[in-house]
Amino acid sequence: MPIQPDQHNPNREIYNTAYSGGEMSLFTAGMLPYDREMIRLRLELLRRYGAGKEVLDLCCGTGSYLRQEWVQFQRAVGVDFSRKMLEVFKRELGGEMPSNLLLLEGDARRVPVRSGSMDLVFSFTSLYYVPQVSLAVAEISRVLKPGGVAVFELGNLWSLNTYVSARAYRRQGIAKPFHVSLAAMLGMIREANLEIMEHRSFQFLPMWGGGPCWLRPLTDWRWKWLLGLKARGRMLDERLSSIRPLKYLAFRHLFVCKKRNANNINL
Ligand SMILES: C[S@@+](CC[C@H](N)C(=O)[O-])C[C@H]1O[C@@H](n2cnc3c(N)ncnc32)[C@H](O)[C@@H]1O
Repeated sequence: MPIQPDQHNPNREIYNTAYSGGEMSLFTAGMLPYDREMIRLRLELLRRYGAGKEVLDLCCGTGSYLRQEWVQFQRAVGVDFSRKMLEVFKRELGGEMPSNLLLLEGDARRVPVRSGSMDLVFSFTSLYYVPQVSLAVAEISRVLKPGGVAVFELGNLWSLNTYVSARAYRRQGIAKPFHVSLAAMLGMIREANLEIMEHRSFQFLPMWGGGPCWLRPLTDWRWKWLLGLKARGRMLDERLSSIRPLKYLAFRHLFVCKKRNANNINL
């Protein structure tokens, strides 16, 4: 499937003009335990699969996650199509690029990285802003070594968050969402020759403000506080978002996948 021309995707322009980069800071004053827990579990996955490895952060933005962990990686590459976000990334490093870190400007659907060169590819809070996201999932698989691991999040079209994000794009000028159904996610992962090792679901409620009036009672911040409480090691949000049929309505789907080898045999 060919990539549609960029005029169908306003997000590069939006990230280069409407965002300062500060929006991507991980730890902010007044953040709720829910956000801290999401960050903790993402970083934990990076440590588990990335230590001593060749790692790609797809849609790295200002490097909020990569900057936390790059010292652990043998070599790290960050790819993002926003020059501005990459400039903020470099500035945050104090102007000095570590020798094991390379930043590249490029589209997630045509990644400027050699096939079969990465042990770990990760992408957090980004792929739901990518149109034709199946191309990005195929690219994740292409750049992975056989047996390599992908950790990425996709956004569900059939979620309440779709209403909130679409309105925030129209009214506040945030990036345009391109959500896909859970069935489409599972299909593109299969097509990309990736085997799912872990599939975790979150956000059956939007967990952030705004949205149409009828949704307001469900976007109140108190839900985030309540659903951030933990029961037996997992947040209430994840526990509920993992139950059918809420799983099909949950917004955030976090996948940990392994690339099959050429003969489709698991390594
Ligand atoms: C919400 S930010 C998240 C950044 C980073 N992953 C993080 O968690 O802090 C989304 C990033 O995806 C990038 N992005 C969106 N669409 C992209 C595409 N098609 N190709 C490359 N980067 C893209 C944006 O420029 C932005 O930096």
